[in-house]
Amino acid sequence: MCGIVGYVGERAALPILLGSLQRIEYRGYDSCGILVQDNASGEVHLYKGLEPIASLIQNLDVSQFPGTIGIGHTRWATHGIPSKRNAHPHMDCKGEIAVVHNGIIENFQSLKDRFLSSCQFRSETDTEVIPHLIEKALMKAMKAHTHHKDFSPLSYSYSHSHSQSLTADEWLLKEAIRESLSYLAGSYAIIVAVKGFDGLIAARKESPLIIGLGDRENFIASDVPAVLEQTNRVIYLEEGDLAVVKKDRIYIENGAVEVTGRRGASMIPWTIEDAEKGGYEHFMLKEIHEEPKAIIDTLRGYLTEDGINLGIEIRSNIKILMVACGTSYYAALCGKYIIEHLAGIPVRVELASEFNYSDFVLGDDVTVIAITQSGETADTLTALKKAKRFGCRTVAITNVLGSSATRIADDTIYIRAGPEIGVAATKSFIAQLIILYLLGFYLAMKPEHEFEEWIEELKRMPQLAQMVLDDADAEIRQYARYLAGFEDVFFVGRGVNLPVAFEGALKLKEISYIHAEGYAAGELKHGPFALLTQDTPVVAILSGGSDGDSSIYEKTLGNIKEIKARGAPVIVITVKSDDEVEKYVDAVIHVPDTRDIFSPIPTTVALHLLAYWTARTRGCEIDKPRNLAKSVTVE
Ligand code: AGP
Ligand code: GLU
Repeated sequence: MCGIVGYVGERAALPILLGSLQRIEYRGYDSCGILVQDNASGEVHLYKGLEPIASLIQNLDVSQFPGTIGIGHTRWATHGIPSKRNAHPHMDCKGEIAVVHNGIIENFQSLKDRFLSSCQFRSETDTEVIPHLIEKALMKAMKAHTHHKDFSPLSYSYSHSHSQSLTADEWLLKEAIRESLSYLAGSYAIIVAVKGFDGLIAARKESPLIIGLGDRENFIASDVPAVLEQTNRVIYLEEGDLAVVKKDRIYIENGAVEVTGRRGASMIPWTIEDAEKGGYEHFMLKEIHEEPKAIIDTLRGYLTEDGINLGIEIRSNIKILMVACGTSYYAALCGKYIIEHLAGIPVRVELASEFNYSDFVLGDDVTVIAITQSGETADTLTALKKAKRFGCRTVAITNVLGSSATRIADDTIYIRAGPEIGVAATKSFIAQLIILYLLGFYLAMKPEHEFEEWIEELKRMPQLAQMVLDDADAEIRQYARYLAGFEDVFFVGRGVNLPVAFEGALKLKEISYIHAEGYAAGELKHGPFALLTQDTPVVAILSGGSDGDSSIYEKTLGNIKEIKARGAPVIVITVKSDDEVEKYVDAVIHVPDTRDIFSPIPTTVALHLLAYWTARTRGCEIDKPRNLAKSVTVE
C-alpha cells in the first residue's frame, strides 16, 4: 500500500531509485528495500532495512550497488510484521526473480498449499508467492519450448518471435508472468526484475502504477511524485495492464491483447507537492475520496464466498467492552448499536482514558476490544494492558500491522484503510465501521442465508460512499461556505447516527476551529436549547432509511421542528427518498437510501466533506491542525 519504483536506463540506478523512494516517503512506511542489477557482471545487489530512506541515501554507495536496472519498495505491511526479512523485494528460490509489490494477495495461503509446497519461503508476506509462481511458470514455459533443464532467461533463446514488439525471450517472460498473475486474487501493483534481463516487467490490478518516460531510460512507480524529478511525461497504466519496460522501448498489453499505442503519455503540470496529494489540495480530501476503496479493501479477505472470516474465534455468549479514543471511540459507539442490533449481544463502550483510572471491575468472561487506527495511542494501550490484568481476552482493531496494540492484544483484526496522513481520521473511521458490521454478523451466529440480503447491502457500501462523493459534493460545499461564518454548531442524531453526529462535530472542530458539539437529538431540550439562536446552526442527521424505524424518523423530525422554532438554522442530512423534511428546514443534504443500520457510511462521507470544505473556506491548515498529533503516544 506504499510505494514501488523501478528504473531501467543508462545511468546508475541506485541514486535514482532512492531519490524516487524519498519522494513517496510522505505516504508513510515501515521498512524499505532496493535491488540493483548489473547485467555487465551478471550480479544482483540487494538491501533491505527498517531505517529511513535518508540514511540509505547517506550509507549506500553506488560503487557497492553498480547497475543500471533496479527496483525499490517502501512497505506498509499487511501480512507479516515490519522486519528486514519481510521487506521487499522478494525472490524465487534461486534468487533470480525479484518482485516489489503494493497491495494484498488474498489467496496467498492456498497458493502456497496448492502449488508451492516445495518452495522455500523466506518471509511471512503474501507477496512472496509471486516470485515463486513466476519461477514455476517460467520453468514450465521453458520446458515446453526448449531442452534446457535449468532456468536462465539469458541462456534461453527461442527462435520464433510471437510478437512484433517483443523478442522471444521477452515474450516468454511476460507470458510466464501473465500466467502467474492469473492465479492471484486481491490487488497488486508489481515490478519484476529478472537476473540477466535488460528490462523490467510491471503489472497492475486495483493498485495504481505509472511509467515515466525518459530519454533512453524509463521509470516505473506507483505514484507520480516518485518520477517527477526525472520526467513529467507519464503513462498511466490501466486496470489489468502488463508492461515490458526497456530503456528504449515499452510494450503494454491488457488481457493478452497489445495496447501499447492506446496508452498515450500525459504531461504532468503538477509540482512535486501537488503530486504527493494526487492533485488534491490536502491529504484529508484525498483520503475522503479514498473512503470507497478503504471499504473495498477492508471487506476483501474477511467476506469470502464461504462467509465471514475475521481470522479470530469469538464465542457468541460473551460480554463485550470496547475501549478507544477520539474518532475511534465514536466508531466503537456505533459498534455498540451495530452489534446490539445485529447480534443482540450487549456491548459496553468506554473512553480508554476514563477506563484506565476508574474502579471498573471486569470478569474474565469479558472480551475487551480496543479500536485504534494507529495502534499506538497511549490511553488505548494502557486500557488493553489493564484488561489483560483482569484476565480478559483482548482484541485490537487497527490499521497498522505490527503496531504496539497488536503486540499487546491476544488477537488483531486489521482494517485495511491504507496509510492515513491527515491528522483528522477519515477513511480509517469508515473502515473501522466496516469491521464492526462484519463483527456484528459474525457474532450473530445465524446461518449465512438469514443475512444474505444484509450482506449484499454491505457490499454496496463502496458504491454508496462513491455516490456521496459524486452527487452531494457540490451542495455540501455550498452549505460549508455558509457554516464557515459561524462560531458554534450543533450536530444531532439518534440511534446509530448519534455517534455519527459526535464524529461530525469532532471533525469540524478539529480542522475548522469552530466550536462544535454532538448531541442526542432528544437531549437539546434538556439544556442546550438555551444556546439556540440564529447564530447557532444545527446539522441534524435524520435516520430512517428504507427499513428505518419510522418512530425514530418522526421523533427526530419533531426535534428538528423544535430547534427551528427556537430560531436556529437547520441543515439536515437525510436519504434521497425523503421529500418531507425540506418543508421544515433551511437546507438538505441528500445521501443514498440504505438500511438504517448502514446509514452511518454515506452520512459520514457527507460529514467529512462538510468539515473539510468548511475548514477550507476558513483557510485553515487542514492536514496538521494546531496542537494536534496523528498518534497521541502520551496519556
Ligand atoms: C480524529 O480525527 C483524531 N485525530 C483523534 O481523535 C484520533 O481518532 C484519536 O487520537 C485516536 O487515535 P487512534 O485511532 O490512532 O487510536
Ligand atoms: N502485502 C504486502 C506486504 O505485506 C505489500 C504491502 C505494501 O503494499 O507495502 O508485504
